Amino acid sequence: MSLRIAPSILAADFARLGEEVAAAEAGGADLLHVDVMDGRFVPNITVGIPVMESLAAVARVPLDVHLMIVEPERHIDAFARAGAAMISVHAEVSPHLHRTLSAIKDLGVQAGVVLNPSTPAATLEPVADLPDFVLVMSVNPGFSGQRFIDGSVDKIAAVRAVLERAGSRAAIEVDGGIQPDNAARVVQAGADILVAGSAIFGAGDPAAATRRLRQAAAPAPSIQ
Ligand code: DX5
Ligand code: ZN
Repeated sequence: MSLRIAPSILAADFARLGEEVAAAEAGGADLLHVDVMDGRFVPNITVGIPVMESLAAVARVPLDVHLMIVEPERHIDAFARAGAAMISVHAEVSPHLHRTLSAIKDLGVQAGVVLNPSTPAATLEPVADLPDFVLVMSVNPGFSGQRFIDGSVDKIAAVRAVLERAGSRAAIEVDGGIQPDNAARVVQAGADILVAGSAIFGAGDPAAATRRLRQAAAPAPSIQ
């Protein structure tokens, strides 16, 4: 599976969202990552259905919706209808994880489980054959621009091991503090999708930043 880059719009200029999305796509973004926060599961409040619908109208790449909300099962239908291609829910707020993942898949949307930095990879074990992807948080969720937590690299490998034991080929997505200087380590540990907010939208040229991140994550072999 080749590496996918998912710019997080959380770090974009919301007054110019269409232009920011187009620039990231021009730089080769594979997905757009949409961070939905409710001020309860995480301290911050971000965007909801109206912004999703506007994004779906302009985006050419699939929308990857990361729900950082309590009772996510109440909202998956609305996000699917608004154009989500992927929806992930946090294990920490999903007491009926098996049911919620099944409900997402029944809507024809790829289903993901998200694990906070303090949630062990073993939490996945009972449902490991179900998700299409697992999102490993490499910061505590809530804000863009935080520092990558180094222990996340071992966590990626631990998640891969749990998936393999279950015979799952689910993708591993990593989110938080991804920058050109740590991307290669994260990919070597087993990441298939890199989310990046400030690395892409914080530098002024999202197209160039997207290309730079892909190059840093999987450097082209040098010709001898
Ligand atoms: C954090 C969000 C991330 C965030 C990434 O709670 O889930 O997607 O926007 O931003 P950076 O790459 O700046 O850490
Ligand atoms: Zn996210």
